[in-house]
Amino acid sequence: MVQIAPSILAADFADLGSAIRLTESAGAEVIHVDVMDGHFVPNITMGPPVVASIRKVTTLPLDVHLMIEDPDAYIQPFVDAGADWISVHVETCPHLDRTLQLIRSLGAKPGVVLNPATSLSTVDEALRLVDYVLVMTVNPGFGGQRFLPYTLEKVQRLRKVIQHKGLSAKIEVDGGVGLDNVPDLVKSGASILVVGSQIFGDLDPAAAVRKLKALAERCAVDPQALA
Ligand code: DX5
Ligand code: ZN
Repeated sequence: MVQIAPSILAADFADLGSAIRLTESAGAEVIHVDVMDGHFVPNITMGPPVVASIRKVTTLPLDVHLMIEDPDAYIQPFVDAGADWISVHVETCPHLDRTLQLIRSLGAKPGVVLNPATSLSTVDEALRLVDYVLVMTVNPGFGGQRFLPYTLEKVQRLRKVIQHKGLSAKIEVDGGVGLDNVPDLVKSGASILVVGSQIFGDLDPAAAVRKLKALAERCAVDPQALA
């Protein structure tokens, strides 16, 4: 099954509750929360208090994407605030095994994230430790950027590596995702689609979620058939 994860970075921060409820009622399965610290990426967004507030308005899993230095120091506060999934950038984790184990030990699902130009080999040994791998399809820091086409082939290679290792990690994609590239992404092996501006930039965000879902479901194929 393909899951649509609206990125609230593109929503109205003064009315996050409505944005979340609207996309949830339209069939979104996960809420993607972009945490930026102004150090690892050149932008600052939200922290645990915002996660605690949005936790109260939805029962959907909160997928917290940490674009921060020293993520270990903030994992417990995000779990306490209600994060269900937590992903950390491999570029920020010298002790990735320890960080991923910390996330799991606190009861959240661990994910690892790669910037577009970071090689898949950097997470090869960690694939067995994660529930999902987030492949950045733009350089992190801002919504509304253009999808980098070379990342599609990276998703395809990652799917093969996961499959050959007999693992079950899912592939999430984030950045510039929309109706134009969802078919290729899903056929390549992505099963969690983060979408910001193409949902919240639409006059009708609920209709945008429904369109993306319908398209993704039509394109979903048996991963075995792609081997
Ligand atoms: C970028 C963020 C993304 C962003 C995606 O650093 O990680 O989640 O919100 O937004 P769009 O879909 O507008 O590219
Ligand atoms: Zn993100």
